[in-house]
Amino acid sequence: MVRHTIIYDTDPGIDDAMALLLALRSPEIAIAGVTTVFGNSNVEATTRNALNLLYLAGRPDIPVAKGAAQPMVLPLGQTGEFVHGDDAMGNIGWTHLLDPRLRPLDQPAAQFIVETVMANPGQITLVAVGPLTNLALALQLEPRIAQAVRNVVIMGGSVLAPGNVSPTAEANIHNDPHAAALVFGTGWDLTMVGLDVTTAVHMDEAFFDELRRSGHPFGRFIGQIIPCYQQFHRERYGYENGAVDTHDPSAIAYLIDPTLFEGQDWSVVVPVDGPAKGTTIADRRGHFLTTPKVRCLMKVDEARFLEMFKARLIA
Ligand code: BDR
Ligand code: CA
Repeated sequence: MVRHTIIYDTDPGIDDAMALLLALRSPEIAIAGVTTVFGNSNVEATTRNALNLLYLAGRPDIPVAKGAAQPMVLPLGQTGEFVHGDDAMGNIGWTHLLDPRLRPLDQPAAQFIVETVMANPGQITLVAVGPLTNLALALQLEPRIAQAVRNVVIMGGSVLAPGNVSPTAEANIHNDPHAAALVFGTGWDLTMVGLDVTTAVHMDEAFFDELRRSGHPFGRFIGQIIPCYQQFHRERYGYENGAVDTHDPSAIAYLIDPTLFEGQDWSVVVPVDGPAKGTTIADRRGHFLTTPKVRCLMKVDEARFLEMFKARLIA
């Protein structure tokens, strides 16, 4: 039944939490480990949130490896509490570990990625839904992971959709453009689940209400953390009816059912400075860039996606 064994690299984060819960409810997906990174908050908070989420979900057996506290080259910029709340989990008061015995591995995230991938050649899918720093550090530590990994799926970037932290850049790429440039230039099997599809799937208040009323603890938890994220989308984008973009769950949805999406293979480069910093520039003509091709998801079946998510979370 398991079709994908993944390392989930994440900065939880409200939508990171939703994606993790979706993965935990999906028999096609086995999680070999969770690696954490700065992004939606500092790495201390995102690691605490990862440990708490797995504990609440009844899966404290899944190892957590703490990762990068800052980008590879640039200083740490603004983290995402203005979107995800002071605790990066919708202001539910997660200032501490839910069980004081919870702790990450002694191994840092990049080393965990290298050891797990090299020990399981051709088996591991890296799913990264935060800044790409851990993946880039792992590549520096052991370049052979590029051949040993099965494939890489990232939530980040955009081909045509407007940026969400600059006119053209998406947050995860912009947060560490040097790491992204390395990841996009590596020539491994890479799929970009970017804003082109993640801003085309909207969950709204009626949807969250159904999750809450289902009585399933995962659905209730999402109902609890989501108001903060809804408020951000209302204030920043004028979204009505409590609608939000479905960023990180889209990367997991792609693994569960790739037929929900359509994509194209293009070379993608990432400028590391200037006004286009952190933009994923795709050569849609196929004439100008010779860098490795990346599968860029461009279309999504929103209705089927939402049905699948709901069925998984409340069944
Ligand atoms: C991405 O940025 C983070 O805030 C979200 O968790 C998601 O991974 C969207 O741009
Ligand atoms: Ca994220």
